[in-house]
Order: sequence, then C-alpha cells, then structure tokens
Amino acid sequence: MIDNSLPLTDIHRHLDGNIRPQTILELGRQFGLPLPADNLEELLAHVQVTRTEPDLVSFLQKLDWGVAVLGSLDACRRIAYENVADAAAQGLDYTELRFSPYYMAMKHQLPLPGVVEAVIDGIRAGCEDYPVMVRLIGILSRTFGEDACTQELDAILSGGDGIIALDLAGDELGFPGSLFLTHFTRARDAGLHITVHAGEAAGPESIWQAINELGAQRIGHGVKAIEDPHLMDFLALHRIGIESCLTSNVQTSTVPSLEQHPLKRFLEHGILATINSDDPAVQGIDLDYEYRVAAPKAGLSPQQIRTAQQNGLTLAFISEAEKEMLR
Ligand code: ADE
Ligand code: ZN
Repeated sequence: MIDNSLPLTDIHRHLDGNIRPQTILELGRQFGLPLPADNLEELLAHVQVTRTEPDLVSFLQKLDWGVAVLGSLDACRRIAYENVADAAAQGLDYTELRFSPYYMAMKHQLPLPGVVEAVIDGIRAGCEDYPVMVRLIGILSRTFGEDACTQELDAILSGGDGIIALDLAGDELGFPGSLFLTHFTRARDAGLHITVHAGEAAGPESIWQAINELGAQRIGHGVKAIEDPHLMDFLALHRIGIESCLTSNVQTSTVPSLEQHPLKRFLEHGILATINSDDPAVQGIDLDYEYRVAAPKAGLSPQQIRTAQQNGLTLAFISEAEKEMLR
C-alpha cells in the first residue's frame, strides 16, 4: 500500500504509452483516421494489453494506436497535458514522464523539434493547473535504428532545460546499446542525466553495457540483474537505481509471474529499487494497483514497500532543494 505520509513518485512512466483510450477515440475522429473500433468498449481490446504478451515487441505494438492518432502538434500538447492531469488525479507528488519524439512524429510526419516543444508546452500548462511536479525524459527509440535516433537526439537537445534526461527504449534484443555510444556521449556532454531500459528483454550484459558504455545512472526494469551476483553487488555499491514496473514485466513475459519478480531480492540486497507504472493506460493499471500487488503478490514487507517509495525521491533527477520541497 502507498504510505500517504511519504511523497509519491513515478519515475518510469511513458507519456506516449499513457494516452487515454477516450482521447485516442476523439483524436481518431478529429483527424478522420480509421480505428479498429468506433466505441470505447471495443477499442479497449485493441489499445490495451488484455493478456500476457509473448514478448516485449508484441507488448510494444499495443502502443501504436495511441501515437497513430497524433495528427497535429496540438494533439501532442493535449496528451502531455492530460498526462499531468492524470498523474495529479492518481495522487502523485512527482513524476518523470518520458517520451519518444520520433515515435510520436512518425505516422503524420510531424516536425521532431515541434513535437518536443509541444510536449514541453503541454506539461507546463498542466503544471499550472494541477498540483504535481513533473520533469521530462527524452527517449531514443532504438527500434528505429541509429540514424532515426540521431534526429531524435537533435530534437531532444533542442528542448534545452525542458528535458532533464535521456533514455533508450524499444526493442532491446534487436538493437543493443553498443549502437548508440555516440548518442549517449553527446547527451552526457550536454548535461543530461541518463537512464536506460536494460535487462528487460536481454540479459545482465545489457545492464553492464548501459552502465559502462552509456553512462546509465539508473536502469529501467533491470530484471535480469538477478542472474548476476557481481552486478547485484555493483548496483548496490554504486547506488545505481532500478526502476521496477511489476505488472509490465509480467505482461511482456520478462518474468513468469509477480510472485517470481526479483524486486524483493533487489531491496534485500540494498539496491535502490523503486515501484513505477511504465505504460499505465496501455496496461490497464495505475500506480496504486502496483503498490497494492507489491505485498500479496511480489512478497514485499510493509517496510520494503516504504523503502521503495522513498527510493523514488532519492533517485529523482532533481536537486536536493527540489526534493526538500516535496518532503
Ligand atoms: N516503451 C514503452 N514501454 C517500454 C518497455 N517496457 N520497454 C521498452 N520500451 C518501452
Ligand atoms: Zn519503460
């Protein structure tokens, strides 16, 4: 359960994996785009994960309808704004929302820097209307290859201090981190924090690579760290955090069940592990649900859940003074 006396954070949430199904329907109508259903009830079967997917790539296909309806920069602004509204409605005090400009721009050939500006704008407007602190993380979608990621990085850097960190997401098995060394060097030189999806579809070597070659300060998912005792020690010693997303890891077949999720063992090992949502609208969950399954399913003790909640703020890519404002 969430401890209401502690700040509630979600530091691993995809803005473009968290588009309201109702908004998908409305934008589809607005732009005259063919959707697989014309009412909400039937649309849900297409835009949400309804069963365990066989692998990460099949899971990711569920996100495609959401970005397919982004027919204008205003639509990008709208979904960013609604992400802030929904984060506040779910009781979050702080969230880092991540997004892939290339993925959002692709279908309707929107200008990439325009998408970045629209998202920053939507977040700013949302933060004026709702009581939640939000920061943005730019994603390089590895699935589209190195050249697309170069364009994507250029756009992310054009956002200036509107974007605080860089991530690498998408098909981890098909596109290893080694393809993106120059991208991450540029991002670090520009002063961005680094988090990398690693050890989700691929093994512990992908996490080592994210740390040693891409400069990751945090790891998205990181499930496969459990297979490498030396890596477990390293993560704890160097305070490299793990952004756990329990339900997502079952839905992508990264773990066979919540009962077998390694989050409890990460915490026992002294690793700064956290509880986050990933793509809540696509997954049909919210952060409260993730906290509610943490004890009965993933086996965490009440104290371990509190520790995970506190770790969220510890790992946040903001200053100590900003963290203090949230305590
Ligand atoms: N993009 C959205 N969700 C993702 C996940 N779980 N892994 C990799 N890329 C993603
Ligand atoms: Zn993710």
